[in-house]
Formats: sequence, C-alpha cells, structure tokens
Amino acid sequence: MSHMEIAGQIEALREKIRHHENRYYVLDSPEISDAEFDGLMRELKTLEEAHPELVTEDSPTQRVGGKPKDGFAKVRHSRAMLSLDNVNSEEELRDWDRRVHELAGADAKVEYVCEFKLDGLSMALHYRDGKLARGLTRGDGETGEDVTMNVRTIRSVPLSLSEAKLEAAGMAANFEVRGEVVMPLEAFDKMNVEREEAGLQPAANPRNAAAGTIRTLEPNIVAQRRLDFYAYFALTEAGEDAFGEQDEALNALGKLGFRVNEHRDAAKDVEAVLQFVARAEEKRNQLGYEIDGVVVKVNSAALQKRLGYTGRAPRWAVAYKFAARSSVTRVESIRVQVGRTGKLTPVAVLTPAEVGGVTVTHATLHNADEIERLGLLIGDWVRIERGGDVIPKVVEVVEDAAHPRGHEKFVFPERCPACDSEVVRAPDEADFRCVNVDCPARLRESLLHFGSRGVMNIEGLGEAVVVQLMDRGLVRTLSDLYGLTEEQLLRLERIGEKSARALLAEIEKSKDAPLDRVLFGLGIRFVGERTAQTLAEEFGSMDALMAAGQDELERVNDVGPRVSESIVEFFHEQRNKDLVERLRASGLRFTAEKRQKSSQLEGKTFVLTGALPNLSREEAKEKIEAAGGKVSGSVSKKTHYVVAGEDAGSKLEKAQKLGVAVIDEAGLLEMLKGEAE
Ligand code: IVH
Repeated sequence: MSHMEIAGQIEALREKIRHHENRYYVLDSPEISDAEFDGLMRELKTLEEAHPELVTEDSPTQRVGGKPKDGFAKVRHSRAMLSLDNVNSEEELRDWDRRVHELAGADAKVEYVCEFKLDGLSMALHYRDGKLARGLTRGDGETGEDVTMNVRTIRSVPLSLSEAKLEAAGMAANFEVRGEVVMPLEAFDKMNVEREEAGLQPAANPRNAAAGTIRTLEPNIVAQRRLDFYAYFALTEAGEDAFGEQDEALNALGKLGFRVNEHRDAAKDVEAVLQFVARAEEKRNQLGYEIDGVVVKVNSAALQKRLGYTGRAPRWAVAYKFAARSSVTRVESIRVQVGRTGKLTPVAVLTPAEVGGVTVTHATLHNADEIERLGLLIGDWVRIERGGDVIPKVVEVVEDAAHPRGHEKFVFPERCPACDSEVVRAPDEADFRCVNVDCPARLRESLLHFGSRGVMNIEGLGEAVVVQLMDRGLVRTLSDLYGLTEEQLLRLERIGEKSARALLAEIEKSKDAPLDRVLFGLGIRFVGERTAQTLAEEFGSMDALMAAGQDELERVNDVGPRVSESIVEFFHEQRNKDLVERLRASGLRFTAEKRQKSSQLEGKTFVLTGALPNLSREEAKEKIEAAGGKVSGSVSKKTHYVVAGEDAGSKLEKAQKLGVAVIDEAGLLEMLKGEAE
C-alpha cells in the first residue's frame, strides 16, 4: 500500500471512530458493541504506531496528551462570559418577563427558549479549521484559564469536525462553543468511593468535583473521571452570535456533534415557561446529572442585542433557581459506624425530614473534626442538604427562636462501639480506627464489600445473610465463605434450597475473579478499584505483589509512599498471608488478565537486524519486551524469529542457514497486535 493510501485508510478509520464516539458519548445510542469499538481503536493505534508520522492531534487516540507544564495560562475571552441573574419564584419570573416586554416595546414579539440549568462549570471551546484549539474556563468572566489538555479528554467534546458537518450545520470552520462541563452522578459516586478509599475527603457535590477535576494538572486523571460537556451557545470567531435564534443555534450544535441537552423547549409566553419549570422539577430526580434550575433565554439574537446587559448579567436571560434541596431538622443522637478498614464514622440520627421529595433519617458527619467545625451539639437543629443520589450532609447548625441549641457535647468514643477494643488516631489523620482486626463490624463490612458488585460479585451475599453467617460462627474470615455447605446455609433463616444453591454457585463462580478484584476485595487500605487494577497489571501475580518491596511498588504509576507502605504492611502480617493461602487453597485463581494478554511473546527470542522502516532498534526492542519476549544479539538455534530490515547482513544469512523464521517489521507488528494500549 502506498503511503497516501495508508494515510487515507487511517483517516477513514478516524472518521468511523468519531461517528461511533458521537453515537456513544453524545447521543447515548451506540450502534456497535464496546468490544467492536475497542477493536476499531486498537486497529487505529496499531496503524498509527506503524506510521507515527501520520499521527495528528485530532486523532481519537490523542485525547490524553501531555501535562500542562506551568499550570494554566490566562487567556482573554472573545466576549465576556457573564453570569445570570436569578429568580426564585413565579412572581419574580413574571416581573422579569414584564420588564423584557417593556424594554422590547409593545409590538415586539418575544419568544423564549427554556433550557435546564446544568450544575457544573461553564467552558468556552475555540475551534480553528474545524479542530478543537482551546478550552477556557470562565475565570473572572474577562479572562479564563487555558485547560485545553483536560478538555480534550472529555469524550463528548469533538476534537475535529468534518467540512461536511460544518456545512450541514451552517457553521464556519472557525467558531466558539460555550457550554457546561458536568460530572454525571455515576462518575461522581465512583470518584467519591475512590477518594474515601484513598483516605481523602469526598467531594461535596458534582459541581465541585467537576471544577476540581478540570483544574487537575494530570490529564490522565481527568480522562478517568468521565466528565461531560453540554453545549448551549454558538459564537463566531469574533464572539458574535453565530445564529439569529437560540433554538437554531442549539439544533446546529447538535447536528455538529455536540451534546445538547435534550430537555429544551420554545416557550411563547411566561405561562409556557412556568409549565417547563414544573416539568423540570419533576424530572430533576430522575436525571443522571444535577440541575439547579431552568435558564430562560430570549430566542431572537437581534432582540437580545436590543435588551443588552445590566452590569454583570444579560437582560435577555434569567435563571429560575429551584429551591435548594435542603431542610432543617433536629439531631437526636450521634451514632458511630465502623467501616471495613476499622474507620469510625460519626452519623447524625435525625428527626425524619423531607428533602426534595425523599425522607432523610441519617446524615454523615465524616469525622470528629467535622463535628468540631460545625460546632454541633446533640439536640441541635441543623440544615441538611442532599444532591442527586448523594448521602445527605449536615451543612450548618441553625439557631433562632424556633430552633434552640442542643446541650450535649458529643464525645468521640475511646473504645470501638462494636467490639470494645481501643480506637486510635494516627497523628496526621482525621479518622479514628478500631485496632482490632477481628472486630465483628469490620468483618461484616469486609464480607459485604468482598461480595459486592464490582468486587467479587457474589450475588445473594447481602447483609441479612452475612450477619447470620457471623452470628452462627460459620464465617470468621473471608476465606470461610469458600467452605460453606448447602446444609449450613439451609439452617439460616429465610434461605431455602433454591437460594442456598444459588449462593453456593455464586461463591464458586467468584473463584474465577481476576487478581485485581481479589486485591480490591481484600480491603487493603488505600487500594481502591483502580489501584488494584494497576497493581494486577504491573505485577501479574499475587506472589509477585506479595514479594514486592516499597521501592518496587512505588515505581508503579499512581502508587505513592502511603499506598506502598500500606500494601507492604498488609502482606507482612502473618494472618493476611494465611488468608491469601487459604483463598488459594480454596481454588481462587488470582488470574491477572492483562499480563496474560501481554505475554503473547512469552518465551520467544528475537534477533533484530538491518534498519526497520519505522521503528528504531530501541523501539522494536521495547515493544517485544513489553509483550514478554526477549531480544538477543546473536542468532542461534534457540532464536525464534529474526526481524530483518533493510541491509540485513550476516545475521539474516545465519537465520536462513539454521532455518530460523525471518519476519519483517510488519510481521512483528502483526504479532504485537492486540498488545497496543
Ligand atoms: S447561559 C450570559 N445556559 O449557569 C449567559 N448557563 O448562573 C450565561 N448554566 O455561568 C450562561 N446551564 O455556568 C446558560 N443552559 C444554560 C446553563 C447555564 C447552566 C450555568 C453557567 C452560567 C451559570 C449562570
């Protein structure tokens, strides 16, 4: 194939991938399976690796790139990024509508567009020649911060738009899109679980989480957080309105391949706006992301211009803010929960209260410092807030005539509420921990974690079963699960033959769980899902990991001293070593998926000779070794393959004499296929 043909093939593949990215990440309606999509990406990666000179910045493989070197540069906005005035009631909205009509003139036709007010952070994206050139935060409204590297990792942000698409949408090749970066609730929950596992404070809400993520100096981390971008303004390069009407702009942005929120509607008058608001409030709890109101915009760009701005906000748009999902209730007592790592978490037991349609009875208080910060006394009235699926949080103590202060100061227990062992607090930590590794509360939580979805996936191992197994002394440690019999299970309450067998089958099935799941399941402090995956990939076996010292562990990406110390400590404990051995004896295989995949060339010896067309010697060697193969300097009978390039000399001859297989660079890359990533 000629170079041009290959370039054409690569570009066609990219367009195909862009199409499927759009179906998956923007339209939520994929046409192919994840595996097929991954296959296309792998194909592109392999081609690009073979032709590094053809890699372009807008290739779907290039979303995660280098780090911003000196923090984020400040860049002026094409036109100020303003905020909106808020209204909080029907009355205020009607006032705003009246003012718009007055200013527009009696005979002007005023039409509105209603959109969801997404609770994230606003972002301006600049496109040049149809390619994403820059992503800017709002900053102070006049100048923003250049966070391009991070924005590129958001899959719903197109890196490149074809001429055909631009033309169909009626857009110039240079333009600007403004919209909102949000963190979907699922990604938010996942991030907080990981943060808690890593001993960090969870983020308060998805908006803070999104804002914090976008300002991270590690595009890698941003890519893993799964942010989303919703477009709501289309501007020209000079910062003028790109379309005559807002609804036209939204439709064009959708056509271009941006995610545009589906919940939007034209409203011919304020009554229609109010109906939209009512519908939005109903939908609010069923969305996968947070909204905090409705944005109402005058549809006509010409009329927008006439209405103009008041100081900091446009007169032609307004934010109807929902009432905060908060409520005031009383703290009846404070209970302390013991987690699977022994961490003690204080939880406020509340007088049941309604918050945004849900009855709340408990709220987390995180740790002793948080109680101190709030100045909370038992019996206090507090404001609690709930966002999306998030566990409610105590925001502040409320005090007025109707809400007198409580009296009793909460004293953090000196002994574990579950097992009466000593509790300790490390000097640099906010949390108290139960020192007893056999603490029943820890065991209960460990078992529940071990069996949960995303860990060992043992369906049926719920709280009711776990508590009974422990009470009857059938399970004293994780590995006891694998010795359970049908007879034993049948003696438990509310377990029949069918569910007993099903649970045993689930336990049996879990023996196949790969190494990373088992590692995650063991509950080593600071080893969350992702760290477990990395460790499994890097070390490839339980034994290698158990034998690793702190230095070796820290050579792994993302593993710092705290994590490495915790791992070494864990495997240093005899009881943990015993646990692993008992699991192994029970039939757990601890298979490391990745290592298997990348040991494709395991045991194979290669000799490189001559100049390869694309890869340098060093690169070829690295690739072979990464796939588990060896590279030797001289050809012998033990050599499996000679990779020959141009001007290959005596080594090639020797290979031919000894009957050793000779391949070229393409042959080598073929063998390495599937190794990419
Ligand atoms: S229009 C000058 N539309 O709300 C117009 N903003 O309180 C300003 N927001 O800074 C933005 N969803 O971060 C607009 N559909 C939407 C929005 C939206 C969320 C945010 C945006 C803005 C803030 C104003």
